Amino acid sequence: MTFRVQLCGGADLRSAAGALGLVLANDGKPDLALIDLRDDASLACAAELPPTLPRVAVVGEAQLRLARALGVPGRAVSTSSEPAALGPLIAAAVPREARRSTRSVLITSPRGGVGRSLLVSNLARRLAVTRSVFVLDLTGTGAVAWWLGSEGGSWAELELLAHELTGEHLAVVAVEAGPGIRIAGGAPRAATPRLAVAAARAALEVAEMVLLDAPTIADPAAVAVSEVVDRILLLTYDDPVSVATLAATTAPEGAWLIASQSRAASLAGRDAFRSLPSDEAAVAAAAGRRGPVGGALGRGYDELAELLRIDAS
Ligand SMILES: Nc1ncnc2c1ncn2[C@@H]1O[C@H](COP(=O)(O)OP(=O)(O)OP(=O)(O)O)[C@@H](O)[C@H]1O
Ligand SMILES: [Mg+2]
Repeated sequence: MTFRVQLCGGADLRSAAGALGLVLANDGKPDLALIDLRDDASLACAAELPPTLPRVAVVGEAQLRLARALGVPGRAVSTSSEPAALGPLIAAAVPREARRSTRSVLITSPRGGVGRSLLVSNLARRLAVTRSVFVLDLTGTGAVAWWLGSEGGSWAELELLAHELTGEHLAVVAVEAGPGIRIAGGAPRAATPRLAVAAARAALEVAEMVLLDAPTIADPAAVAVSEVVDRILLLTYDDPVSVATLAATTAPEGAWLIASQSRAASLAGRDAFRSLPSDEAAVAAAAGRRGPVGGALGRGYDELAELLRIDAS
């Protein structure tokens, strides 16, 4: 779901909104207001908003008792400004027609070798349990197909069709990689930006969710596709070079920043949406059978897949 939110509050609400991937409504047309009722400036800000705009408020203990006594719906108020507490309240408060469910997800990173292909293959396996998944390998490596125990395809036969690519074309060249998962693209060449965008659109015609294993965020194909997908996952390490690279990146608004092999809660001044632990044993076991990653890293993937499932509903 992509919500546009009006913030009336301070740094903790801003950081919760960032961690939840909410887009700030800068054009004055929000779907929802997120208000900190514990401070006067925020109260004044909220008083200016249209009365019909749905609101989620962070309140103090005394205000919570007042809200209960007045019969204010419990789901609209929270005494915590943590993303985990606010997320479900926000999801419940936004009117159905304002929701746009996430169906296409771009997995990219400021630098290479951070675990994108591993993440895509593991999200695909988990999401495919409940919905059809199309994986697009924009990298030209075939790594995601390898992790899915499959052959992978090639962009070669699609490049000439880029201007008129349909879901059917993609389905013809796609490779089945287990129940509910199809893959298009792979070695030996990466997709051009034009083909990457065409494939992202076409795959949505034939699958419920589309996951794109992309090159780094500075790559022209990743830049082009980031304009058309519903959700961007930006995976990064927390070493000094990665942090500097992230700082130099114009991360798209609403992207989920994910710390890889890290416990960092924030990177380059931005809140991490989630972090994935380092788990060499689980990766080695998965590589041995070209199967899903288990262990602590697998639980991290489970959690992200669940969040995407909520985002997609
Ligand atoms: N959380 C993790 N714990 C341990 N090892 C990991 C983890 N994530 C990734 N790796 C290791 O990093 C390697 C690179 O991962 P992967 O190929 O998925 O990265 P990538 O970002 O797709 O790289 P490329 O730039 O080559 O496309 C994996 O083969 C694995 O050995
Ligand atoms: Mg890769």
